Amino acid sequence: MFERLRSWFTEPAGTPALIRRMLSENAARYRHRYIAAFWLMGLSAACTAVAAYLVRNFVNETYLQRNFSAVVMLGFVTVGLFAIKGASIYGQMLILARINARIVADNQRRMFDKLMNEGMGFFADRHSSEFIARLTTGANAVTTVLNMLILAIGRDMLTLIFLAIVMVLQDPLLFVIGVVGVPPAMLVMRKLVRRIRVIARSQFTGGTHMLEAMQEALQGIRIVKAFTLEDEMRKRFEATVSEVQHETFKMARVANRTSPLMEMLAGTAIAMALVYAGHRVIHGGAAAGEFVSFLAAFAFAFEPAKRLVRFNIDLNSSLVGARVLYELIDSPPSEPIEDAGPPLVLRPAARIEFSDVRFAYRPGEPVIRGMSFVADPGKITALVGPSGGGKSTVLSLLLRFYDIESGTILVDGHDVSRLSRRALRRQIGYVGQHVHLFRGSIRDNIAFGKVGASDEEIAAAAKAAHAHDFIMGFPGGYATPVGEHGLQLSGGQRQRIAIARALIKDAPVILLDEATAALDSESEQQVQDAMAHLCEGRTTLVVAHRLHTIMHADRILVVEGGTVVETGRHDELLRKGGRYATFYRVQLKGPVPPREPVAAVALSG
Ligand SMILES: Nc1ncnc2c1ncn2[C@@H]1O[C@H](COP(=O)(O)OP(=O)(O)OP(=O)(O)O)[C@@H](O)[C@H]1O
Ligand SMILES: [Mg+2]
Repeated sequence: MFERLRSWFTEPAGTPALIRRMLSENAARYRHRYIAAFWLMGLSAACTAVAAYLVRNFVNETYLQRNFSAVVMLGFVTVGLFAIKGASIYGQMLILARINARIVADNQRRMFDKLMNEGMGFFADRHSSEFIARLTTGANAVTTVLNMLILAIGRDMLTLIFLAIVMVLQDPLLFVIGVVGVPPAMLVMRKLVRRIRVIARSQFTGGTHMLEAMQEALQGIRIVKAFTLEDEMRKRFEATVSEVQHETFKMARVANRTSPLMEMLAGTAIAMALVYAGHRVIHGGAAAGEFVSFLAAFAFAFEPAKRLVRFNIDLNSSLVGARVLYELIDSPPSEPIEDAGPPLVLRPAARIEFSDVRFAYRPGEPVIRGMSFVADPGKITALVGPSGGGKSTVLSLLLRFYDIESGTILVDGHDVSRLSRRALRRQIGYVGQHVHLFRGSIRDNIAFGKVGASDEEIAAAAKAAHAHDFIMGFPGGYATPVGEHGLQLSGGQRQRIAIARALIKDAPVILLDEATAALDSESEQQVQDAMAHLCEGRTTLVVAHRLHTIMHADRILVVEGGTVVETGRHDELLRKGGRYATFYRVQLKGPVPPREPVAAVALSG
């Protein structure tokens, strides 16, 4: 028994432990304001109690003394009492609302900071909508719970205590009769709490699924429309909606099971009190004032008492949100932002070396199997090979998105696994295979490559990426907004902005993953020229599918099955007649060269 009680208090997800944590982490800082709110609650509770007490004077002045001016006097006093009560309620609500807004903001910041300290692996198996749900539910839940707590103690408990005093003053025995219903009510509540917790958790999960379905449908709206998947999406969404609806009903059923019981108990208590009081007035000759005053106090006490008995239930349904928040905040950050180390300064052109690198995204499924190669400083090294061979993974490892299992990756002689991730990434300009633009203007998007870049620098980078002309073609120029994911731009335009963003960084190492894939031959040629110029004095790794874009690379690595199967210059590899030569022949003379069929479809269509 004692053990159980102790575990209840120490178990981190247990209710008291959770509340203690909220109080110390979130509420303690605002204790002065809470105390002020508390005083105001005491004031309003006292007003209620005094009003109930005065009922006795009302009744006795009316029926016994028949003193009208005293009754009018009492009327004025009552108005005054309620005015004070109103003002203090206004004050306490205002104070609480301000505290709440701050606590919500604090928690939102903490949660976002935590997310920024997570690595790629953390996000791979989670849906982004989960974080949205956690951010909204979690951050608000803490204030809901704290509010419930403070209102339960400050408002309901104080009101009850004051009213109990009034009842005892009027008739102690009557008071005892009045509260017989409380212990059985408390017992029933305890049984319901566990179920409530479970339902609240599945309600939250259901809500997350709903967000997920919505977000996926909207993000993929182009595919949804093109494949006429509207009905399919509606079905998916419908399933999640009914899940949530079902849980909501269940919650309502269980949580409100208390009402009939409460009313029954209250009715019994009132009836008993009435009978006893009637007996006292009729047979004992007691004054009516005490009795009516008692009834008034009892009536005022009913609502707060009901709320207090239900308190544990409401608390537990809100605590789920707090758990959800702390789960996220408490897990150790998978990629803490470590800026403590000395800043990394690479020489203008850095040598990159992979030696016998092994890596797997999932244990037991190796993706890079003993890869070794050297990318010479100031030279262009190209990675080619079949899809899924591991080319993009090589770039991810260079950026230290993931840590390798064995082997070493050296950048300018530094072992990547020992460098601070941020220091390393600051030295790398990167254009990913999937271009991502942020909501904002084109200027902002390029400037993300170099915080505080001047307009001249931005224009220079855009010119180098052959983006300047099309940008100036927009009425808004560089101020043109690009919208969520940059959807207002063409694929090639997005890509050129991404290239400009990488170029403006002026980093010694440049990684380009299919950076010219969405360009037409002419722009591609232009970007190639610009890049050839810009890559001077930098170490560049490019991944390309179209081989003619890398014909002039200083070294070509053919990556297949997670290793380098061939190395050399374009003509060397052709002469060798190996894998590269086969690729090249297929691309050059194959029955389906990459560009022409599109034109053919366009012509015949
Ligand atoms: N985040 C990930 N989690 C698990 N497996 C992954 C992940 N990313 C890639 N893979 C797997 O790793 C292998 C190599 O992928 P990678 O993206 O490096 O190929 P790639 O050579 O760039 O191909 P492509 O030319 O199609 O871009 C693939 O088999 C892929 O299924
Ligand atoms: Mg790739």
